[in-house]
Amino acid sequence: MTAMLEVDDLRVAYGNILAVKGISFRVEQGQVVTLIGGNGAGKTTTLRTLSGLLHPVGGQIRFKGRRIDGMAAHKIVELGIAHSPEGRHIFPRMTIEENLLLGAYLRRDGAAIEQDVRRAYELFPVLGERRRQAAGTLSGGEQQMLAMGRAMMSRPELLMLDEPSMGLSPIMMQKIMETVAALKESGTTILLVEQNAQAALNLADRGYVLETGRIVLEDHGQALLGNDQVRKAYLGED
Ligand SMILES: Nc1ncnc2c1ncn2[C@@H]1O[C@H](COP(=O)(O)OP(=O)(O)OP(=O)(O)O)[C@@H](O)[C@H]1O
Ligand SMILES: [Mg+2]
Repeated sequence: MTAMLEVDDLRVAYGNILAVKGISFRVEQGQVVTLIGGNGAGKTTTLRTLSGLLHPVGGQIRFKGRRIDGMAAHKIVELGIAHSPEGRHIFPRMTIEENLLLGAYLRRDGAAIEQDVRRAYELFPVLGERRRQAAGTLSGGEQQMLAMGRAMMSRPELLMLDEPSMGLSPIMMQKIMETVAALKESGTTILLVEQNAQAALNLADRGYVLETGRIVLEDHGQALLGNDQVRKAYLGED
């Protein structure tokens, strides 16, 4: 059976510097798959390439069996991939609700959009309570909820999250990870990029460890949690 997402020998460069050096991985339908790795490993570059914001210099990307490398970003959203970017990129002067609706910009099904906005408010009540306020007034963790809510507004089959826990308190981080688990339960397939390897691997069906543009380890999430190399490099143990 073909995986929902198949990445094969992907190479991505900035100018003549290769940042992603031939990586291959798969995401099966219904799974949470995580890419972990330190600063500059190539995680964000990989996600930006999957969403069509960067074009690879080599390799192939298939989503539901169809080549998407080189496709325009809006086409990729239409096919069912959504991206909650690193650093959130919410629009601070627009209201929370306006930010959410931006995630549905390709949809024309008004009633269903309203229903999905309500669902986002159920998932994150604080967004509903403050829906008419400027998004810039939200705390960091709340902005992360908004970024995730906005990504869900395209009704993605595959949701890509780039460091959703970055800069959050342990409690907020736990809340975000619980939400990722709830989204998985509701049938969304998730590709999760995290520096917090512990949290990500706890949740993930499968994990890939990225170092300077290469995959150096891959296994089930739980197996990687028990791996010595991972424990030393990413879980701060010696
Ligand atoms: N716009 C750019 N121009 C040139 N080089 C870049 C650009 N963006 C990223 N890079 C380089 O590509 C490499 C991979 O960066 P990337 O942002 O993908 O890493 P990352 O794994 O997401 O790191 P972090 O955990 O710090 O977010 C790094 O060496 C980085 O400096
Ligand atoms: Mg990054």
